[in-house]
Amino acid sequence: MKSPFDAVDGSPLTNLIGNSPAMVEAYRMTRLAAKSHASVLLLGETGTGKELFASALHHLSDRASGPFVRVNCGALTESLLASELFGHVKGSFTDAVKDRTGRFEAAHGGTIFLDEINSTSSTLQVKLLRVLQEREFERVGDTKSVSVDVRVIAASNCDLAKTVAQGEFREDLLWRLNVLPINLPPLRKRAGDVERLARYFLNVYNQKNNGNVTSIAPQALEAMKNYNWPGNVRELQNYIERAVVLAQGTELESYLLPTAITGDRADAQAAVFRPTDETSLVREFVYNRISKAKEDADDLYKQIVAPVERELLEQVMDNCNQTQTKAAQLLGINRNTLHKKLQECGLGKSKVEV
Ligand SMILES: Nc1ncnc2c1ncn2[C@@H]1O[C@H](COP(=O)(O)OP(=O)(O)OP(=O)(O)O)[C@@H](O)[C@H]1O
Ligand SMILES: [Mg+2]
Repeated sequence: MKSPFDAVDGSPLTNLIGNSPAMVEAYRMTRLAAKSHASVLLLGETGTGKELFASALHHLSDRASGPFVRVNCGALTESLLASELFGHVKGSFTDAVKDRTGRFEAAHGGTIFLDEINSTSSTLQVKLLRVLQEREFERVGDTKSVSVDVRVIAASNCDLAKTVAQGEFREDLLWRLNVLPINLPPLRKRAGDVERLARYFLNVYNQKNNGNVTSIAPQALEAMKNYNWPGNVRELQNYIERAVVLAQGTELESYLLPTAITGDRADAQAAVFRPTDETSLVREFVYNRISKAKEDADDLYKQIVAPVERELLEQVMDNCNQTQTKAAQLLGINRNTLHKKLQECGLGKSKVEV
């Protein structure tokens, strides 16, 4: 279907990867929004790139040389958030030992990004409404009004219309914010971007970790395309980083991905090994290795422990600036033993110690 915005540049914005139709639409909306001073509401699940879009929008706008100030409204209590946003005067509450300017003032001439706006209390919502309408507010404990020239970008990872219906978000504030809504699609709805993103992050983490994972096994790619990505791009990014760190060869193989993605080992015995949460990295790694081992394997211990041992030695040696004495002490093993192990792992290039 033809859209009236087809003529707007739909190429990816800075730092953003993805060419699916919903992303192209979001790039176009962002470019259009950047030309105006209207408030923008970024809507998308966690990890869909709201912060990246907010920053790209600011940098495309005529306020680019002004400040870009981000406030996570979900991270602070009501009173701290009020003081963070609007500032306070000395003595306005117990810890207010001196005057403090808030983030709205800090954003003067630029953009303020109100992340997780859905978490704000009703009192704060009233104050925000006033800033949006009049670009004016008072510092906490003050009666004098402060005027600011600030562009507001807000983000929510939940459906604000529902929150309004539940009586938890002011409808008038939603309308004020919702002048230009930009919807960021969840990753499961743009499987076509998964490969592009995976290759992008492979490149990023190869560089960061001196890795050399240059290809993705077809099975692994297929599994990633079929996964539902509740944590969206952030989740993909984490798994690729982890795969680069754990990889032994140059290919990203299925065993390097969590079973939640590859999900193909349903037999009851294997289920015993199945990790119950994201943090059981070691358990999952071992499980994946066992699953991958050939049936007649006779060196399972070495296959599984060797890469872990190598990683441990490498990290501790790095921490100890390649000094074996220090590393041996930290590891609680004899220096000769460490020396031997380093040689075995091909990590024998440590500092000469006298
Ligand atoms: N399209 C994309 N291209 C490249 N990286 C992306 C993309 N989308 C998200 N990311 C990366 O994913 C991570 C999460 O992105 P971001 O913080 O912008 O998401 P968010 O929507 O603000 O999430 P949350 O609601 O949890 O705050 C970041 O590391 C970001 O760099
Ligand atoms: Mg965010």
